[in-house]
Amino acid sequence: MKKTPVIIDCDPGYDDALALVLALGNETLDVKAITAVAGNVPLERTYKNAVRICHYFGKEVRIGLGAVKPLVRELETGEMVHSPSGLGGVTIPEEVPMPKKENAIEVIKSVLEEADEKVTLIPIGPLTNIALFVSQYPELRNKIQEIVIMGGAAREGNRTASAEFNIYADAEAARIVFESGIPIVMAGLDVTNAFQILPETFSEYRAMGKTGVFVSEVLERYFDFYQTLGGVFKGPAIHDMVPVAYVIDPTVCVAKEYHVDVECCGEFTYGRTVVDFGGLSPDKNVKVLFESDHQRIIGMLKDSICHLNRR
Ligand code: BDR
Ligand code: CA
Repeated sequence: MKKTPVIIDCDPGYDDALALVLALGNETLDVKAITAVAGNVPLERTYKNAVRICHYFGKEVRIGLGAVKPLVRELETGEMVHSPSGLGGVTIPEEVPMPKKENAIEVIKSVLEEADEKVTLIPIGPLTNIALFVSQYPELRNKIQEIVIMGGAAREGNRTASAEFNIYADAEAARIVFESGIPIVMAGLDVTNAFQILPETFSEYRAMGKTGVFVSEVLERYFDFYQTLGGVFKGPAIHDMVPVAYVIDPTVCVAKEYHVDVECCGEFTYGRTVVDFGGLSPDKNVKVLFESDHQRIIGMLKDSICHLNRR
């Protein structure tokens, strides 16, 4: 079967962990590498969590160690959402064999150089690693099929009134990526906030073997945070699964092309993705996703759980 080669750049994090389950278990994706970035929790933890997850599912994937902090600003983590360890309360082994440390930017470089077809990048954390890569190796841009990002929001933010967490965490990096000329798909809050897995369905996952138990524990701990929001969300929003689902099958989302800029200096708007709804700019640099078929994405997740269980 023809597989789509991808690199996942992530900061696990509960929803990153579910995105990794979806990707690693999917038979149409070839996960060439995973690169870790500082974001939800410090780099040391996001890297270790990526290693723990791959080890737990018996997947030998190259894992790169990326940027320890944003390009310009200091790191502001999302520990209140994802717990100080990023995967607190999830029972997978803490101590696992650690691979030889490889620099994330060099991992992306070598995967692209070795690939005989274009590779899709799926960043689901702050865009620091991707910005460093496109700045350092501009000659490899034409080896990137597209960059399918979880980040941004055409409407309201979740880190500030204006900005979504991943873009706010490193808006200078996001601007470099959005202005790179590489095809960009933005799975922002407009599509991801609505992709909630409802608590009354968590037990279905618990009944699905080792991988399902992992998924249900992640969902339960992630939902602990969402319950503090006073009923605005019926279940945890699994943001990071949406771009992975889009790469598996773009027809699960409704996409529209716009010009999008990233605000880097506003007092109240730092990190905002400014979507040109009025069509003032002829240069439509981003496909913005607005809706997704939740049941189909949940079906993809269940398929991945079954495949990972069989390993
Ligand atoms: C994004 O921020 C992080 O907390 C999540 O992992 C996701 O990537 C949602 O705004
Ligand atoms: Ca993330």
